[in-house]
Amino acid sequence: MTRTEINAAARHERRLLWRGNRGLYALLEAARHTGPIVRVPRLGWVVTDPVLARRVLNDHAHFTMAGEGGVGHLWTQLFGDEMAQFFGGARHAEIRTRARDLFTEDSARALVARSQGPHHEALAARLAAGVTADVADAARVLAGRLVADLLGLPADRPDAAYRDVFAAGERLAGLAMGTAASTVLAPGTLARARAIVTELTTGVDEGYRTAGPDTLLGRCREMDLGLPLTRGLATLLVIAGTETGASGTVRTAALLHDTGQQRALLADPGLMANAVREGLRVSTPAPVIGRHVAGDTTVDGRTLRAGDRILLLTYLATNGAGPFDITREYVPETRQLWFGGGRHLCLGAAVARTQVARMLETLLAAGRPYRVVSRRASSRVLVPAYAELRVQIPR
Ligand code: HEM
Repeated sequence: MTRTEINAAARHERRLLWRGNRGLYALLEAARHTGPIVRVPRLGWVVTDPVLARRVLNDHAHFTMAGEGGVGHLWTQLFGDEMAQFFGGARHAEIRTRARDLFTEDSARALVARSQGPHHEALAARLAAGVTADVADAARVLAGRLVADLLGLPADRPDAAYRDVFAAGERLAGLAMGTAASTVLAPGTLARARAIVTELTTGVDEGYRTAGPDTLLGRCREMDLGLPLTRGLATLLVIAGTETGASGTVRTAALLHDTGQQRALLADPGLMANAVREGLRVSTPAPVIGRHVAGDTTVDGRTLRAGDRILLLTYLATNGAGPFDITREYVPETRQLWFGGGRHLCLGAAVARTQVARMLETLLAAGRPYRVVSRRASSRVLVPAYAELRVQIPR
């Protein structure tokens, strides 16, 4: 990997952030040179240090997802107080415990194989035949198929149906774009959000009644969660599992190409887990995590007051370790901060890692490096992503 390749990869990533979300880009640029924790007018506290960020995520007594500044606040406005129980209360621990076996490494492999396997095989065959394929579009369809499986929706629809699932999730997430300074949603925004939720959860009522006990909806019924909370959780899965997963998958494919490290991975497939970890670390598809300060506390000598907001800039915290390098060892300070930390640590982490690995395996299945023919960044999105990444395997 040459210095030119490293710089090119970093340039593409910066462009993605800039095109996707100017506010986020400006915040990340400004915070690059500040201390580990600073107070920013209108935004609140901003943390850039990985160890401090994890400390905040683990301190549930002083920092919460519910309340102004936390993503739980947005969900509670949409789904009512029952959703607040998920983000803040004992119900959360119960649901996580009861759903754990659905999200293990083995379950993740089975889920990805079931919902995406035939598509990966078809994509590998097209690439091997010299056809140019859009990895970004494929990742959106695959993410839509994956959450459709989790929600008990039919698996036999044409790709367009799953593109729609993805697009609905993207529109819903997009409504959170203006919430950097306040997580209170305007009535018009709430109405638009409710309409999208209705569209996304059409299959949930039926699934809640009839789905088997080994499905997410079946588990919700066994726990007697009720339909409103089940609809809320189903929507949470769509939002949490689509944009981030697709963004991380496609950006990892681009980083592998741009840094010239596909050759190393082809030579040693044992580096796959590292490649996936590095791709997710460098892209950090959830670049900011917000929390509400629930009680007075100190962080790194600074006094935070109850009612303050705090933004953890995970993108900077994880990228401090250096550029994408598939031979990099596990970074203990960073751990898996791109998946958050503490009790809200990403439930779909194994699913996400499996998805990325599966896509890289597909792109490299012909045993030869792929070439990015053209690319386009998404504009005005919550999660910076490629709208298009067309690749080809030269003969
Ligand atoms: C690369 C892909 C992904 C990334 C970077 C990611 C990142 C995150 C992060 C940072 C959080 C914590 C948010 C917070 O603390 O405020 C989170 C939570 C969550 N994620 Fe993921 N995620 C990814 C993929 C997925 C997938 C594929 C699924 C489901 C299939 C999923 C399901 C969830 C759920 C349900 C939560 C909420 C957990 C809780 O509150 O207990 N995620 N994710």
